[in-house]
Amino acid sequence: MAISVISLRDVRRYYIVGDFIVRALDGVSVDIGKGDFTAIMGPSGSGKSTMMNLIGCLDTPTSGKVFIDGEDTAGLEEDDLAFLRSRKIGFVFQQFNLLGRISALENVMTPLLYAGVGPRERRLRAKDALERVGLKDRMMHRPNELSGGQKQRVAIARAIVNNPSILLADEPTGALDTKTGEQIMELFSDLNKEGRTVVLVTHNVEIGMACQQQIRIRDGKVEA
Ligand SMILES: Nc1ncnc2c1ncn2[C@@H]1O[C@H](COP(=O)(O)OP(=O)(O)OP(=O)(O)O)[C@@H](O)[C@H]1O
Ligand SMILES: [Mg+2]
Repeated sequence: MAISVISLRDVRRYYIVGDFIVRALDGVSVDIGKGDFTAIMGPSGSGKSTMMNLIGCLDTPTSGKVFIDGEDTAGLEEDDLAFLRSRKIGFVFQQFNLLGRISALENVMTPLLYAGVGPRERRLRAKDALERVGLKDRMMHRPNELSGGQKQRVAIARAIVNNPSILLADEPTGALDTKTGEQIMELFSDLNKEGRTVVLVTHNVEIGMACQQQIRIRDGKVEA
């Protein structure tokens, strides 16, 4: 097998709600290789978003290990974790999560600001990223002046602007109609062919089957 860029080892994530324990993930071990295109599938509440947040180091497991590029993320200092989250991993969400008061271009520039890139370079790189997702002619539009598919393209441009090797997307087509969803999937497929490791969550069987491999989860456990 190829080198794993993402590796979960017996990962559990429990939530305590009152005197009740929710086993959102209950002993999950998976390996995702460099350059893979993987779909995480499963019913609502099965633990898909929980798993994505752990892979993206937005959350830490109750027990078990999360390795990114062979590195145990539990052993990383806050600075290294921040670096990992901002440079190695790009995130795309179902509801786009764009800032409404600023243009598409400024939205895409935001991660570069946090990465300490200067203003000229920020603008150039954000323009490149928007061009890459086919939105060259919509750069000055604000999110409410864009269609759902266009908003998702802006979000994808923002996710790739730091040139991360891993792209994570939680239900990226969930808020889009079928045809727009297919176009967004084509974009993910192209980004994968350029060498990025892509992991996406989907409810949609056809979308899932279009990916190279599927991880099915149910009740916090890997089914297949
Ligand atoms: N912060 C939280 N506190 C308590 N329970 C939570 C929390 N977040 C998630 N859960 C529970 O963990 C389980 C898994 O949730 P998760 O969001 O990972 O599911 P999902 O597979 O992404 O579902 P969906 O397809 O609806 O997005 C659910 O039972 C949910 O209620
Ligand atoms: Mg979810």
